[in-house]
Amino acid sequence: MKIISIANVKGGTGKTNTTIGLAKELSKKYKVLVIDNDPQSSITSILLNDIKEFDNTLYDVYLQKNIGFNDCIYEFQENFYIVPNCLNSMTLDLELSSKGNRENILLNKLNTIPTVFDFVIIDNSPFISLQLKNSIVISDLIICPIDNSSSSLQGYNMMMKTLKTLQDDNLIENKNIYVLRNRFDKTSKFTKDFNKAVEENLKDVLLDTIIFNSIKYKEASALHTTIQEHSTEHAKVFTDLCNEILDKI
Ligand SMILES: Nc1ncnc2c1ncn2[C@@H]1O[C@H](COP(=O)(O)OP(=O)(O)OP(=O)(O)O)[C@@H](O)[C@H]1O
Ligand SMILES: [Mg+2]
Repeated sequence: MKIISIANVKGGTGKTNTTIGLAKELSKKYKVLVIDNDPQSSITSILLNDIKEFDNTLYDVYLQKNIGFNDCIYEFQENFYIVPNCLNSMTLDLELSSKGNRENILLNKLNTIPTVFDFVIIDNSPFISLQLKNSIVISDLIICPIDNSSSSLQGYNMMMKTLKTLQDDNLIENKNIYVLRNRFDKTSKFTKDFNKAVEENLKDVLLDTIIFNSIKYKEASALHTTIQEHSTEHAKVFTDLCNEILDKI
């Protein structure tokens, strides 16, 4: 089982979009579990919108000793399963502030993920939180989506700082992190210049695949579905991304 975190400490760079597209692509060949590790619960509301109430969510996995991942796995499609989240998780950092070993809560529950899963993809919130740290601790690989803004690069730098802090605290060893360009456009001079700078400065960690700007992604979310089911033309980029990541792993 390989675990991939999708994370950037900057909002709206395409973490959720990437999680859904990549998970759908992987689910064509593998059994995939998506963990909604964002209190905003975007994945939950986009893909599990027809379920009004969950017996348990990731919130319970964090807080309750006897609840594991296997108590809150919901099927979205064939080979594509989801651990949902809920808005209560907004206060988790506070609720867990006095708990020891709190960066390892998910690590200590990893054995409750059924071994049938080949891949676990974790969608994260845009904040440095205990939940982000838990996600990094259990991940084999981190993908950091950036859009064509300098603040998303600052978000990447904050991610690197967070990794360094976790290393200094002996909570992780070296983690592979890759940068994914999302919401780029093909024509503007601004994006071309930005792209050139990114290619020069981040060449060791930059993925070749670029997800271009398109309203189709927003449409797919509004329709509670994946880009693969909404637009075959826009789905192709996720085949490329998937192959690139399988190569790295
Ligand atoms: N390549 C793209 N082209 C156009 N719109 C996109 C693209 N990728 C994502 N979007 C849209 O941009 C918005 C933000 O994307 P998304 O929710 O994936 O970002 P996020 O990083 O998960 O945000 P947050 O930090 O709030 O969790 C969404 O409405 C999404 O549909
Ligand atoms: Mg999101």
